[in-house]
Amino acid sequence: NPKKYILAIESSCDDTSAAVLCNTKVLSNVVATQEIHKQYGGVVPELASRAHQQNIVPVVHQALAKANIDKNQLSAIAFTRGPGLMGSLLVGTSFAKSLALGLHVPLIAVNHMEAHILAHFIDDKDQSAPAFPFLAMTISGGHTQIVKVTDHFKMEVLGETLDDAVGEAFDKSAKLMGLPYPGGPLIDKYAKLGNPGAYPFPKPKVDGLDFSFSGLKTSILYFLNRETQKDPGFVSQNINDICASVQFTILEILMDKLQLAVEQTGIKRIAIGGGVAANSGIRQRLVDAEEKLGWQTFIPKFEYCTDNAAMIGIVGYLKYEKGEFTDQSIAAKARYAI
Ligand code: KG4
Ligand code: ZN
Repeated sequence: NPKKYILAIESSCDDTSAAVLCNTKVLSNVVATQEIHKQYGGVVPELASRAHQQNIVPVVHQALAKANIDKNQLSAIAFTRGPGLMGSLLVGTSFAKSLALGLHVPLIAVNHMEAHILAHFIDDKDQSAPAFPFLAMTISGGHTQIVKVTDHFKMEVLGETLDDAVGEAFDKSAKLMGLPYPGGPLIDKYAKLGNPGAYPFPKPKVDGLDFSFSGLKTSILYFLNRETQKDPGFVSQNINDICASVQFTILEILMDKLQLAVEQTGIKRIAIGGGVAANSGIRQRLVDAEEKLGWQTFIPKFEYCTDNAAMIGIVGYLKYEKGEFTDQSIAAKARYAI
């Protein structure tokens, strides 16, 4: 039977997700987002593991039901081995191992960062895959990375963040302005109404293609402290301009590095992914770069940008085709390079 049904499981951070793919097509992609972390203003690892434990069985059942697939039809089980929070990874890893053992099907270990990139290869009418070679920039609450991709499994990390991820920079800046977690989408919303040049923030000086965002957070903190001492209503009165200025600085940092990566590699195909790819500003910048710089840019459908199991499933399928299976001795890895 040329049709392969892959059940994929993702539990690396705070989303419990299960998906069923038939070859490169997604039949279902169920994501249970853990609301518990909102009140803490960030992900609490211990609470994340417990929530995964509660969610995993119902989420897998839903994914099978939505795909209208019986578990006995499955060809393989794919799961996120890392990188991520150890307690969270252990839940998905143990579950996947047990299920593969019980169903007598192969087990496939997937690197979460490779999956963010290979999500572009999901067969969906709303997205198209980049041709090789291309540059992938993964930007989310946990990651900031530029990768040169010469084949599905030939990837080279060209640069990554030395401290905070881009999404963290958005969320921490938003927190300083008193906005609720996660603040990234709110900064995006207010930025549309503000002047990006109102308050210039310094860009970090980082060599090569690596990133740094912790300095920006500090300068925003000092700036807001100084201004609210003069005028306690400063933030609420100027929220649009502040958000536009913060977002502008973050986008400048991202676009500078992308431009440098294009110069260094000569590759003008750019594929982005991760939750921050939802940002309307970065989307506009990429459209502009297509016109002005001759780039070809790719953004997956939003549900394949944020953490999801469908992206684990596409890697599972590609590895299935290569016969890349793992045995039951496999262990989760919190730090797991591409
Ligand atoms: O991929 P994701 O759902 O989870 C991981 O971190 O892996 O990404 C979430 C991050 C959060 O930091 C959130 O604030 C940010 O993506 N984000 C945005 C936007 N939508 C989500 N940041 C800026 N603008 C947005 N529109
Ligand atoms: Zn992720």
